[in-house]
Amino acid sequence: MQLADKVIAITGGARGLGFSVAQRLGEQGAALALLDMSAEALDRAVLELKRQGVQAEAFVVNVADETSVITAFEDIAKRMGPISGCVNNAGITDDALLVKASGGRIEKRMSLETWQKVLNVNLTGVFLCGREAATQIIEAGHEGVIVNISSISRAGNAGQSNYAAAKAGVHALTVTWGKELARYGIRTGTVAPGFVATDMTATMRPDMLERIASSVPLKRLGEPDDIAKSVAFIFDNDYFSARIIECDGGLRL
Ligand SMILES: NC(=O)c1ccc[n+]([C@@H]2O[C@H](COP(=O)([O-])OP(=O)(O)OC[C@H]3O[C@@H](n4cnc5c(N)ncnc54)[C@H](O)[C@@H]3O)[C@@H](O)[C@H]2O)c1
Repeated sequence: MQLADKVIAITGGARGLGFSVAQRLGEQGAALALLDMSAEALDRAVLELKRQGVQAEAFVVNVADETSVITAFEDIAKRMGPISGCVNNAGITDDALLVKASGGRIEKRMSLETWQKVLNVNLTGVFLCGREAATQIIEAGHEGVIVNISSISRAGNAGQSNYAAAKAGVHALTVTWGKELARYGIRTGTVAPGFVATDMTATMRPDMLERIASSVPLKRLGEPDDIAKSVAFIFDNDYFSARIIECDGGLRL
């Protein structure tokens, strides 16, 4: 897809990987609709993109809330015109072991609330935004691309029952939508990052991050733009659909 003057929605676009994707797609002429929770963070991001000569607008949304998502996509169409693409990037972590035991006694368990919170944002959020994106693209009668951001953890990762299950589900949605939506001229793709230097990984202990970086065959954490390049590839390649790009420096769980 040629991106010049196409409207692309990016969830979690105010910082981290989402912002990096916005910069890279913006360089190619796309107009970005940044969707995020925080109005201040969004304003900073939009200002920075405009400074770089990129067209961008802010939309405050909670991707886990159906009404909020529907309203945000309606606003995008009103203010910018119908979207041609959507990058489902917003995500959170809330790690815990399924159960933690000592001497045969359970000390802690992942709460239903912790499970549900991550599923709501990371999986239901992708479903809701993907549904609105597909609706808008089809009704506009033009081609489209939906990119979902999964994770290396989708293969299963200790301490991340909620996150791993959601991220596996995200790729299943990519494959399902690739099959369902091709007839409407919509392609899909997943990018599964390894460990990337953003605010999300900055919450991890520095010694742990160093250990992870040294176990990556390429010997470093990913940079946000490494992931943005993978997203841009999916937009660019008109024969790519329903498949996954693993961008993890060679580290597979
Ligand atoms: N950083 C990594 O190492 C890494 C690795 C694999 C996958 N990922 C995935 O990449 C995506 C982006 O991660 P990041 O590292 O940039 O994270 P980040 O925490 O830096 O940014 C995430 C953004 O999503 C927004 N967000 C969170 N919940 C939201 C909600 N309910 N509605 C709208 N916006 C919401 C946040 O406000 C934030 O701006 C996530 O889906 C994450 O799971 C990240």
